Amino acid sequence: MHDVEISRSGGVQTLRLTRAAKKNALTVAMYNTLADALDSGDASDDVRVNVFLGSGGIFSAGNDIAEFLGHAKAGNTSGAERFIRTLPGVQKPLLAAVDGPAVGIGTTMLFHCDLVYASPTSSFTTPFLDLGLVPEAASSLLMPERMGHVRAFEMLVLGDTFSAERALEAGVINAVLPHADLEAKVLAIAQRLAAKAPEAVMISKRLMRSRAAAVLAHTDEELISFKERLSSPEAMEAFQAFLDKRRPDFAKLKS
Ligand code: COA
Repeated sequence: MHDVEISRSGGVQTLRLTRAAKKNALTVAMYNTLADALDSGDASDDVRVNVFLGSGGIFSAGNDIAEFLGHAKAGNTSGAERFIRTLPGVQKPLLAAVDGPAVGIGTTMLFHCDLVYASPTSSFTTPFLDLGLVPEAASSLLMPERMGHVRAFEMLVLGDTFSAERALEAGVINAVLPHADLEAKVLAIAQRLAAKAPEAVMISKRLMRSRAAAVLAHTDEELISFKERLSSPEAMEAFQAFLDKRRPDFAKLKS
């Protein structure tokens, strides 16, 4: 449903992005499906662990840029808002298996995950600045904490892509696993986690993410700037340029 497949088995809920023709770019409908699944997983004894998966050789190309442009023109807020406000408070563990590019929120959501594994050809990019935007999903807080300021600045502001090897060295992922085994190995880890004492797992996650309220507050602070930037001339030019398959021309915006 809505380009996301949700399934549950043995306490493991998998959330697989299945919009490969559009590189798993996330639409409002997809964000809502993901947030619904995370909410209902937290409320259900059938779910102990959540696992994010991509498909078709891509994890996610980030927010759907056509929707960004549509929202900006209509003066709407970011469609990602509900999903990114859900992530900091998810009580059950979040795992991710990244196979291929993880762009924008495809990377920033990983900093809310508790275990992250990637295939050797995976890559991690947050091109917010190149789209005239600013960081979201608390990435301006969580990334410097995890990676150190200079590496986070390199990824978030300079917009450089990190390889799987570099992401491992920066502490963004737990391990690089062979492409052929990635999903099976991550699902086996999820099953190990699902077999542990569920209350003890949830309490441990809560203790280790004890600043969830502060992270949500930071998310909201970022959203104020992010929503302003969405309808800025710089962002509109960048979105239109992507859809026109050309480079953005920010120089023409100068008065
Ligand atoms: N939003 C909307 N559509 C997207 C998209 C996005 N974020 N990312 C890819 N697509 C679409 C392309 O427009 C193209 O559609 P078309 O076949 O109708 O022309 C299709 O997905 C394939 O994309 P393409 O760029 O040809 O694939 P690629 O393998 O050459 O490159 C990426 C893959 C992910 C590197 C590249 O698509 C990309 O950079 N996407 C934008 C990422 C981005 O800036 N996201 C926003 C972050 S805030």
